[in-house]
Amino acid sequence: MGQLLPIEKSGVLRFLAAADMKNLGHLFQNNQAWAEAIRRRDPEFFLKLSRQQLPQYLWIGCSDSRVPANEIVGLLPGELFVHRNVANLVVHTDLNCLSVMQFAVEILKVRHIIVCGHYGCSGVGAALRRERLGLSDNWLRHVEDVRQKHEQRVAEAGQQGGDRLCELNVIEQVVNVCETTITRDAWERGQELTVHGWIYGLKDGLLHDLNVTVGDGRSAGQAYQAAVAGLGAKA
Ligand code: CO
Repeated sequence: MGQLLPIEKSGVLRFLAAADMKNLGHLFQNNQAWAEAIRRRDPEFFLKLSRQQLPQYLWIGCSDSRVPANEIVGLLPGELFVHRNVANLVVHTDLNCLSVMQFAVEILKVRHIIVCGHYGCSGVGAALRRERLGLSDNWLRHVEDVRQKHEQRVAEAGQQGGDRLCELNVIEQVVNVCETTITRDAWERGQELTVHGWIYGLKDGLLHDLNVTVGDGRSAGQAYQAAVAGLGAKA
């Protein structure tokens, strides 16, 4: 689909693309090609999807443009329910994230919640270096809390301190997911729901499991301890 952007190819094409830029026509072109390619494989695809969605997974990830949820796990529209924010945070007072979770768990009945962070996260980096970015400093305060909680582990990682904080942040958000009333109620009802913590590498496009998989309220604490200890062992 990238070839539909002729901007780099020649001066003439660059001019045409520039006129197009005003209304973002190239994005509509891309969209038509994308929908066409899917319809070629399955003419009923959009019709079927318009009737209902039955995703099995809720993805909670970073807003970073380099971590497109569906693409990196090879899932089509309809297969992944998604919430993204800066630094993939799950905050107990964030009605946006909680509403997404509640809808996903109670109405769509997803089987899995995946918290996915990524190495090289700018939000995590800013929290690590205590940079002032503006309004988002207040949001990133939650990552600073993680840094403070694990100050020694982050320091011990030396040059890898940023990566370590990205990992720890995911693990802490998995705990937050497990502690929401939404997840606790689901487990109490006997609903099958597993929470996962993953991290994505921008440099190789690969996902890594942080081994903090939790399928019930009783094992959350143990999974957390083991995952945090495992990070230290790997370093
Ligand atoms: Co990020």
